[in-house]
Amino acid sequence: MIGAGYVGLVSAVCFSEFGWTVTCVDKDHSRLKKLRSGVPPIFEPGLDDLMLRNMKARRLTFSDNLGPAVADADVVFLAVGTPMRRGDGYADLSYVYSAIEELAPHLAGYTVITTKSTVPVGTSREIERRLRELRPDADFSVCSNPEFLREGSAIQDFTHPDRVLIGVDNDDARKVMERVYHPLSLRSAPVVFVSRESAELAKYAANAFLAMKISFINEVSDLCEEVGANVQEVAHAIGKDRRIGDKFLHPGPGYGGSCFPKDVSAIIRTGRENKTPLSLIEQVQTVNEERKLAIAGRIERIVGGSVRGKTIAVLGATFKPNTDDMRDAPSLVIVPMLQERGATIKVYDPEGRDNAASLLPGVIWCETALEAMSDADITTVLTEWNEFRALDLVDAKEVMRGDTLIDMRNVFQCELAHAAGFKYFGIGRGQSLGLEHVTQELETEDMPQAGELKKLAIA
Ligand code: NAD
Ligand code: UGA
Repeated sequence: MIGAGYVGLVSAVCFSEFGWTVTCVDKDHSRLKKLRSGVPPIFEPGLDDLMLRNMKARRLTFSDNLGPAVADADVVFLAVGTPMRRGDGYADLSYVYSAIEELAPHLAGYTVITTKSTVPVGTSREIERRLRELRPDADFSVCSNPEFLREGSAIQDFTHPDRVLIGVDNDDARKVMERVYHPLSLRSAPVVFVSRESAELAKYAANAFLAMKISFINEVSDLCEEVGANVQEVAHAIGKDRRIGDKFLHPGPGYGGSCFPKDVSAIIRTGRENKTPLSLIEQVQTVNEERKLAIAGRIERIVGGSVRGKTIAVLGATFKPNTDDMRDAPSLVIVPMLQERGATIKVYDPEGRDNAASLLPGVIWCETALEAMSDADITTVLTEWNEFRALDLVDAKEVMRGDTLIDMRNVFQCELAHAAGFKYFGIGRGQSLGLEHVTQELETEDMPQAGELKKLAIA
């Protein structure tokens, strides 16, 4: 396994748990030091126990020396990063191709080389071309095996996948990959074989589709606010239709993370390069970017136009709960905008502080949610960590100076927040920002329905 990041490490640990002997290679020495001492360098629930167990069983080792690991391997997985390339938004394949150059001299015996990293369509073919040039004598096949795990539930996702997708172009490679995933097919996980191009494109199409669902529900939630509907009820109602499905219909401050933003950008590039613009997906990206930028303004409007001089408690900084990953987290856009507009920001995140500290300069870091809320004028929830759901809202209200609770993840129930004395604003439900705005306009015009609308908004 080349690369011991979120995907490489989780995959290496799970493959060793299946009984395979795995060497996980990484160049980052501080990461390796932690790994060798049995400490995962990332926060991922359940990873530490599984990792230690397989290290003790000597099925899992960590190394910075790619040579012997590759020479001994039947399968080499490439799990290096493919970040967004500066300037053009395309996937940066430099880590993939330098790994290929490093491993080429060490190929010995028949070896399957497979991408686990998310790579644009055509990359397997290009890897093969480069390897043939570097090692015309070597016996190898190149496959595509994109990974669909999510951070925060990575072990469960890897060991209980909806499907394992493998792109192959010959039977020998197929047999090896079938064997590697045999422990999962024994548990009835569908292992789907397709062409390499289909596997590569399917990974991007899957992420783009999920991102589209999120942008869709975010826009619907804005409409809910304007018309007095509740987005959770709407999502529940449409999600019952199995053609739509009830997953990925939670509105929020916009999707983030190490993958959706970069993968949406990369598939857009692929579309343009192939003269097939993906206008729908381009709009998904625009809606998401605009949403993140609009959140600071939303907070300002809720508190009457300005956050200057106010203290804001931010609960959650990571792009989603159960991870310490800060890559493309919405907080990285929202917090600096609030700071620019004159607010003092106190942040609490259960696991994100180490990674976030250098990315969010000038914020006050706190050890608990209540500490962040102490003397704050406004509290906003940006990440739906479970522990926030258990907050005693009466205690929380008491420690605050102000009474505004802006819940960007719909973690709390409106009624309980109101009962605790909060002015509560959820997303697409509860006391509606849009409706308040409409109500104010109507009141100015002295329209009798204004009070009715406000009641509707609060309900
Ligand atoms: P990451 O940045 O966490 O890890 C990449 C690791 O590769 C780093 O530790 C780096 O030091 C190492 N590396 C780079 N070049 C190397 C080399 N030549 N030799 C040895 N090690 C090398 O990245 P990640 O989040 O694990 O993502 C990896 C790939 O998997 C990406 O293509 C991503 O799109 C895809 N993916 C990620 C997720 C996720 O949840 N993070 C899920 C599915 C797919
Ligand atoms: C996502 C995909 O879900 C994985 O299948 C894929 O393997 C991975 O990208 C990848 O290619 O790297 P991940 O980014 O770890 O996984 O996390 P998600 O749970 O998908 O969340 C991504 C973002 O969307 C987060 O910011 C989250 O808050 C947001 N989101 C998600 C919503 O706003 N609403 C939702 O209903 C779901």
